[in-house]
Amino acid sequence: MAKNNFVIAIDGFSSCGKSTVAKALAKKLNFVFVDSGAMYRAVTLYFIQNNVDMNDEAQVAKAIADIHIDFIPNSQQTQILLNGEDISEAIRTMEVSSLVSEVSALKQVRTAMVAQQQKLGAKRNIVMDGRDIGTTVFPSADLKIFMTADPYIRAERRFAELAAKGEQLTMEAVVENLAHRDHIDSNREESPLRQAEDAVVLDNSQLTQEQQLDFVLDLYRKTKEAS
Ligand code: DC
Repeated sequence: MAKNNFVIAIDGFSSCGKSTVAKALAKKLNFVFVDSGAMYRAVTLYFIQNNVDMNDEAQVAKAIADIHIDFIPNSQQTQILLNGEDISEAIRTMEVSSLVSEVSALKQVRTAMVAQQQKLGAKRNIVMDGRDIGTTVFPSADLKIFMTADPYIRAERRFAELAAKGEQLTMEAVVENLAHRDHIDSNREESPLRQAEDAVVLDNSQLTQEQQLDFVLDLYRKTKEAS
């Protein structure tokens, strides 16, 4: 059967603005936007709230069976619900950021999340951002973008974002957290972060959000014309 939806996969390192671009692109094209990192953060929050021991496979399996994640798009931003509760803000704390790479490296967690992500994108026009979208979740995505940025610029952006939310932290802690996550995300056994061979690289260190959106829109139009 002919495929009639269009899938855009945006992967890259932590805090290089993937979700911002993905969201703006989805809005412009009227596509569904899914922040796959938010799903791993939701699982991590559940593990923290319920004292799940991530080294205990039975506990992890039980937790996964109990976790239900929903996305509710609204005009401002997509809300994410964990078992009916809005956790959009709660998943952005440093406590969650400090554990999320370990939780998302677990095979059981990845299998469950990848299945949900594939279901979300099966019949819809979708923009999904993450680490393994173009390699594992949608290896035949219509358009793949790999985002990167200077590590110091990424840390500055992340620091400003967390400080604006009132989190008390040092720039050093943010730099460490990003380096830690990049390391685990790139070196784990299960679908590590890597650039798909057919992905187009977008280094946004020196680009405004508008320039990034123009870049990806242009890619979308060219890919559509060529198909
Ligand atoms: O995009 P983010 O920083 O919110 O993602 C949080 C963590 O989730 C990140 O450190 C790695 C993990 N992640 C993943 O393993 N696979 C994805 N597709 C998306 C995120």
